[in-house]
Amino acid sequence: RIAYVNRRFSRHDQAVVHIEDRGYQLADAIYEVWSLFDGKLADPEGHFARLERSLSELKIAMPMSRAALTMVLKETVRQNRVREGLVYLQVGRGVAPRDHAFPHPDTPPSIVITVKAIDRVATEAKAAKGVSVITTPENRWGRCDIKTVGLLPNAMAKQAAKERGAAEAWFVDEMGLVTEGASSNAWIIDADGTVRTRATNANILRGVTRYSLLEILKEQGMTVDERPFTPDEARAAREAFITGAGALVLPVVAVDGHPVGDGTVGPVAMKLRSLYIERAR
Ligand code: PDD
Repeated sequence: RIAYVNRRFSRHDQAVVHIEDRGYQLADAIYEVWSLFDGKLADPEGHFARLERSLSELKIAMPMSRAALTMVLKETVRQNRVREGLVYLQVGRGVAPRDHAFPHPDTPPSIVITVKAIDRVATEAKAAKGVSVITTPENRWGRCDIKTVGLLPNAMAKQAAKERGAAEAWFVDEMGLVTEGASSNAWIIDADGTVRTRATNANILRGVTRYSLLEILKEQGMTVDERPFTPDEARAAREAFITGAGALVLPVVAVDGHPVGDGTVGPVAMKLRSLYIERAR
């Protein structure tokens, strides 16, 4: 495996960053994840737009132009000889002696790219069975729209899910409404067929998969309501699913151990999964 680290390609097992990289010390870095279909990045523009927005919200400079970055991403994919997988990009404020306040603006941003292969046969088998989710109180900061590597609450929520045999954790805010998953957006399909997902604001990530799926739903003429839901509403729903670069569109069959609808994988979620994959390929 090959990684791209600060303008060099290195063997993945020998790739290192500096001990005073601000990403390491302060989580002062942002990231993006692309799904890779047949060697091609899915939804490239959406992820680039969010990357630029996350960086600009944190006042970190783009490390290189979008065109140059695209070339480096493609070259890293090529060197790894991966056709189906995930591409990870991290951009940080760079290396400087530890200090909470920002270093000199000339500090070069750090940049890391890794590529991971995915076994599509295994992920399709998982999707066909559906996954369980748990719920957990929302405990993240007020700018979840910025895709930072400050993921400790997400990591802890995901671990709690894993320990309970679930694939994802849904954060629930103080109003009792689901915000999003630890690494995905959350959706339900109501008894009347309305597709529901929370509207985006500073409390959740503007999922690129979420946006693509909204376009697909529009094309399909389906009714969408960007309104949050409670875990109880998810259980009473006909179907539930999650979206994300890793999950794609993944049916949810149980919430906190209670079945969603009749507890089987939803046909609409599976249909939306194949429509999404078809479009991304
Ligand atoms: N996670 N919400 C959160 C908190 C996420 O971390 C993600 C993505 C999403 C879905 O966004 P998108 O559709 O743009 O991937 C929503 C990535 C995949 C990760 O952390 O690995």
